[in-house]
Amino acid sequence: MEYRIPLGRSGLSVSPICYGTWQLSPKFWGEVSCPDIVAAVRRAYELGINFFDTAGAYGDGLSERVLGQALEMLPREKVVVATKVYHHFHPDGRRHGDLSGKYIAQYCEEALARLRMDYIDLLQLHSFDVFTPMAETCQVLDRLRQAGKIRSYGVSNFSVEQLRMGHAHGDFATCQPRYSLLDRRAEEDMLPYCAAQNVGVLVYSPLEHGLLTGKFDGSETFTDLRKNSGRFQGERFRKLAAAVRKLQPLADKYGLTLTQLSLAATLSHAAVHCAIVGIKNAGQIEEAAGALGKRIEREDYFAIRVMLQE
Ligand SMILES: NC(=O)c1ccc[n+]([C@@H]2O[C@H](COP(=O)([O-])OP(=O)(O)OC[C@H]3O[C@@H](n4cnc5c(N)ncnc54)[C@H](OP(=O)(O)O)[C@@H]3O)[C@@H](O)[C@H]2O)c1
Repeated sequence: MEYRIPLGRSGLSVSPICYGTWQLSPKFWGEVSCPDIVAAVRRAYELGINFFDTAGAYGDGLSERVLGQALEMLPREKVVVATKVYHHFHPDGRRHGDLSGKYIAQYCEEALARLRMDYIDLLQLHSFDVFTPMAETCQVLDRLRQAGKIRSYGVSNFSVEQLRMGHAHGDFATCQPRYSLLDRRAEEDMLPYCAAQNVGVLVYSPLEHGLLTGKFDGSETFTDLRKNSGRFQGERFRKLAAAVRKLQPLADKYGLTLTQLSLAATLSHAAVHCAIVGIKNAGQIEEAAGALGKRIEREDYFAIRVMLQE
């Protein structure tokens, strides 16, 4: 069954589970098998997921290239591809922030070539660029939209004030903040602002890098980005892992796994349209897809929030 929702005012119609491809960034996640990702992307599509998130920065173009390869065989109009611009990366490994009109136009051409597409559905600013006037950034975004190279544009990692300023210059249709049952900072101001402005919200790290799947007992050690995260260290890690596992009876009540319960609960926030799940193989997206269309009752939703309170 296909679940599609309007992504705020973007005009895009998407599955509430979005396939995340940051995992193709060896610097953060170690080596991940590209054939496994290609197979997982195609499996996602079979399961009714039409929304895919990538970025120029992920593996300095690797993620866009592999996603393009995976999607090439699928009908273009049936998939929604979101990517991001900000990190200006060079062949020698240097990179810096850049939302200048010149770089966005150059990036767009390069990203389209990597993605093997002639338009991008959603081009997001990956971060706020203090160096470039917003009017300059918006001018090129509007020009790209008029030229049919992008269908809509949005932001990620902006503060509310930065997005408010963006709205003074351009039609930012979506926002991609970090948000999960364990990290609810976006509830304070970003989610209410987006709801008021009908901005489509696609949240990242909804599983807290795997912690909310219940697969950890708190004794594990890591060689990837998790080795630097406080949530994956010592007593805090053990307590969080135990708290997640205590949700098992609630998951059982709905016939869901802990991963699916976490995603369904995250999507219960009225301002959240999509959860972007980072995926390494077909099995992971199969499990995430099981959260599509699942509703959690109000009482249980608030019980989950209390149980995961740090
Ligand atoms: N805009 C931004 O700045 C930004 C920042 C971060 C992420 N993102 C986007 O959001 C996506 C998701 O965020 P994220 O990768 O940080 O975090 P996440 O989705 O919370 O966690 C991803 C990790 O969860 C584990 N996982 C996923 N499905 C699983 C399953 N069914 N069973 C067991 N483990 C599962 C995998 O861990 P293992 O490695 O243990 O297999 C995977 O690496 C990214 O891919 C990216 O597209 C955007």
